Amino acid sequence: MLRYLTAGESHGPCLIAVVEGLPYGTPFDEAAVRAEMQRRQGGYGRGARMKIEQDSVEVLGGVRRGRTIGSPLTMRIDNRVKNAEELGEISRVRPGHADLAGAIKYGTTDARDVSERSSARETASRVAAGAVAAALLDAFDVRVLGYVIGIGPIDSTLRLEDPAEIARRRDASPFYMIDPSCEAQVRDGVDRARQEGDTLGGRIEVIGLGLPPGLGSYVSWEQKLDGRLARALMSVQTVKCVEVGLGLDGSRRRGSAYHDPIVRGPDGKLGRTSNNAGGIEGGMTNGQPLIVRAATKPISTLRRPLDTVDLKTGEAVQAQYERSDVCVVPAASVIAQAVVAFELAAAFLEKFGGDTFEETRERYDAYRKRIP
Ligand SMILES: Cc1cc2nc3c(=O)[nH]c(=O)nc-3n(C[C@H](O)[C@H](O)[C@H](O)COP(=O)(O)O)c2cc1C
Repeated sequence: MLRYLTAGESHGPCLIAVVEGLPYGTPFDEAAVRAEMQRRQGGYGRGARMKIEQDSVEVLGGVRRGRTIGSPLTMRIDNRVKNAEELGEISRVRPGHADLAGAIKYGTTDARDVSERSSARETASRVAAGAVAAALLDAFDVRVLGYVIGIGPIDSTLRLEDPAEIARRRDASPFYMIDPSCEAQVRDGVDRARQEGDTLGGRIEVIGLGLPPGLGSYVSWEQKLDGRLARALMSVQTVKCVEVGLGLDGSRRRGSAYHDPIVRGPDGKLGRTSNNAGGIEGGMTNGQPLIVRAATKPISTLRRPLDTVDLKTGEAVQAQYERSDVCVVPAASVIAQAVVAFELAAAFLEKFGGDTFEETRERYDAYRKRIP
């Protein structure tokens, strides 16, 4: 079973990601992990804090000479700011954060311990784990790409299918969008929100290309791939909505205008005339591109703080202001890509298994040959 655990707090010594279940001999690309970590820290709309937190990754175990060795792959991401012990209390709990519920849960009036772990700094570990999973998928020509399709009220309707073109456009965009025609409006929106002390949310799409049919399962509810992807995406801080394929829009159509007819293509292989299901039917990949989307709320910490109550004094006050971003949708798209890649890699290894990467490949190749 492929799984991962993250540990560490925002201002502790470091963050940790432990990935277990990779077959022996899986290619490990440290540079690719670093590149994703850097992308997570970028994007237009982030605060000065990001410049302090240039992430580096140190591999503590599980890899030798660029390949996994079967033991848990452990990565350490250093925190540049390690002042957790000196940080003041948070009793003016911030609406939209874990502060209030977490403080009540643990019977404290200081939400600092809560915020140290609930903050999205934790997603650095998830991005590292996701990049490891993506390297496994990459070896089987499966590409997973996350990009931004909307920020605030602005949406892009442009969709592309060529992974190289998607990556090229996305990586040239400060918003991690593939549609440059939206950028001026988006930039204007983010700049205005910043000037007005406000924040913006947005929408992200993640696609999976080259996936074989049959990943996931219809047999038990917890094995259904759409459910697993939804959980992984929904667990990312700020994500409040997840959809697969046409998603919410599909619910407005008739069945005849929704479902994807099955046809035999010119190459003799089975195919579809549309992909409204987003590549998943019955909790399994169906061989079409996977399409999932996530929508994020505008982040919670506003320069013009919201009303709250001080947990120590009981008085009505303004929420604590900690240095904060204006728009984290680009960064969230990197995290969304990572968590989707991880779930897909887990489903891939459930299907093909093997103690070694070579075994996984043999089983995969044999399966590929019998796909109609
Ligand atoms: C990459 C990233 C960076 C974030 N940075 C901030 C931030 O600077 N300020 C803030 O108020 N929230 C930020 N958030 C959102 C909070 O972490 C999140 O809203 C909070 O932990 C509550 O969780 P929830 O939104 O899932 O309910 C960020 C989220 C992500 C994904």
